[in-house]
Amino acid sequence: MSIPKVELHLHIEGAAPPAFIRGLAQEKGINLDGVFNEDRSYRIENFTQFLRVYEAACTVLTGPEEFGRLTTAVLEQSAEQGVIYTEAFLSPDFCGGGDLGAWREYLHAMQEAASRADDIEMRGIVTCIRHFGPDQAKTAARCAAETVGDFITGFGMGGDEMQGTQGDFAYSFDMAREAGLRLTTHAGEWGGAQSVWQAVRDLRVERVGHGVQAIDDPRLVDHLAENGIVLEVCPGSNVVLGVYPDWKSHPIERLRAAGVPVTVSTDDPPFFHTTLSDEYDRLADTFGWEDEIVREVNVTAAKAAFCDDATRETLL
Ligand code: ADE
Ligand code: ZN
Repeated sequence: MSIPKVELHLHIEGAAPPAFIRGLAQEKGINLDGVFNEDRSYRIENFTQFLRVYEAACTVLTGPEEFGRLTTAVLEQSAEQGVIYTEAFLSPDFCGGGDLGAWREYLHAMQEAASRADDIEMRGIVTCIRHFGPDQAKTAARCAAETVGDFITGFGMGGDEMQGTQGDFAYSFDMAREAGLRLTTHAGEWGGAQSVWQAVRDLRVERVGHGVQAIDDPRLVDHLAENGIVLEVCPGSNVVLGVYPDWKSHPIERLRAAGVPVTVSTDDPPFFHTTLSDEYDRLADTFGWEDEIVREVNVTAAKAAFCDDATRETLL
């Protein structure tokens, strides 16, 4: 797949190569029992256990230097796949526990690493974690609002979608919007079409992370298409985590055919044994996506990117 690619949905910690996490664990003498399979890949059984493994792996990322090194490793990995622009979810909860001074140091390390990366641009979406609750989310939103700029351009939410409602986090999303950040949230990965409605009505996001369960509500599909609400679709993630049993039953092509602006991302690539090239290869095999469709989808992603127009021009 030689077409330059734009990725909008990538969790920085979730993109950590297993060898990178194992190496840090060894350096620091941290026990990571239960995180890896015998073949050294991440162990995943279901979504809840995935979140536990994810958070356990994060315990080795103990300071700004580790996040700087991680950013370098992730961007090298992405650039090798022909990704020219990536938006990474960055979480104050894993970067200093919500302390603003600490967050600034982590952010500095990541931004510095990003500025040194060859052939790829990066922007950061500050992310709160839903199962840590609305109060902690406010702390993340404050970190986002205080560091909005050329690098931090968005605010979002990941984590366990079955905890609470999207609306429980409206205060944080309002704070981020008022600070000039652009908004996205994970919705319709696990919480059904209802959760996507909440995301667009209660949080007023312009993009939705996953959003694929919108397919179950034709009115919602029309709403997304008519209002140009962009889905950050991660098919490989959905199949590995069991949102859909296989690629054939994944709704990305039905959503696209209905006029919903879909984009393609990897979410947490090593966890799901994927790369962005692999995702497009599987889409070609499963749904017959030709180069023209791949180009169109990447134009959709470039137009929806949370970056300035001069940068956007370089992606189109
Ligand atoms: N954090 C990392 N990957 C995630 C996913 N697929 N859903 C929700 N939160 C996440
Ligand atoms: Zn995600």
